Amino acid sequence: MSTTLSSFQVETYRRQGIVHPLRALPAAEAEAIHGRYRAQADFVKGRNNQKPHLLFTWLDALVRDPRIVDAVESLLGPDLFCWGSQFFAKPAGDAAYVSWHQDATYWGLSSPDVATAWVALTPSTRESGCMQVVPGTHLAQVPHEDKFDDANLLSRGQEVAVRVDPASVVDVVLQPGEMSLHHVLLFHGSEPNRSSLPRIGFAIRYMPTRVRQLSPIRDSALLVRGHDAHGNFDHEQSPQSDLHPDAVAHHGAVIDRQLRILYAGAQARGKLNPAARPGIKETT
Ligand code: NI
Repeated sequence: MSTTLSSFQVETYRRQGIVHPLRALPAAEAEAIHGRYRAQADFVKGRNNQKPHLLFTWLDALVRDPRIVDAVESLLGPDLFCWGSQFFAKPAGDAAYVSWHQDATYWGLSSPDVATAWVALTPSTRESGCMQVVPGTHLAQVPHEDKFDDANLLSRGQEVAVRVDPASVVDVVLQPGEMSLHHVLLFHGSEPNRSSLPRIGFAIRYMPTRVRQLSPIRDSALLVRGHDAHGNFDHEQSPQSDLHPDAVAHHGAVIDRQLRILYAGAQARGKLNPAARPGIKETT
């Protein structure tokens, strides 16, 4: 299984802001990870669904998996941080959706050289509410509005304040073990799961070590390939074992700080609605 991208695939990403489907793992490996997730699903929610790779060795292995990181290196170069990870789970028949948004709007990073690997653990289809994208929208940041809706998986209901032409929308259909790689500025969202199966994916955020966090609060990330010659982020630590007490404490401190960064960023943009639900629903 070769996962270094071809020049055609790299060109597709540069032009469209996404390349998919890419085979990251055999379906059986994806099913095994899905099984481990199911066993922890009640725990891996809210805060524990932010950077869960700092809590579980099998997710640490996944964010470092060469079959994923080789492909990311093709886009972002040899020195890579994993800055985030998160399960996106929609139970069968779930009404939850994700409004159209650009991730770069909320993350406070200095550069759009940030890519998400979205790894399917169950079939992600139009019926099950797969991610949808608008190719080519990764070239410019657009304004967003906060629309607060309980069915929206985004914490503030953030949505692009421009019209999305339905004819330009592409379904990112993925089978278990396949992934997409998408750009931090690409318009994306998803519809409810109308199928009888859960739709579960694991999203991993990668960036080159040269990227900076614009917030005055110091950010952290996990070095997964190459070297960090820049020192812009504190280095996170992989877990010694699943839910090892040191890992739990480290993860807690990391997430506390990340929430302060995101909260301060929202305040700075005047976007913080005091009526917003506290804590994390999902962020993206
Ligand atoms: Ni997103």
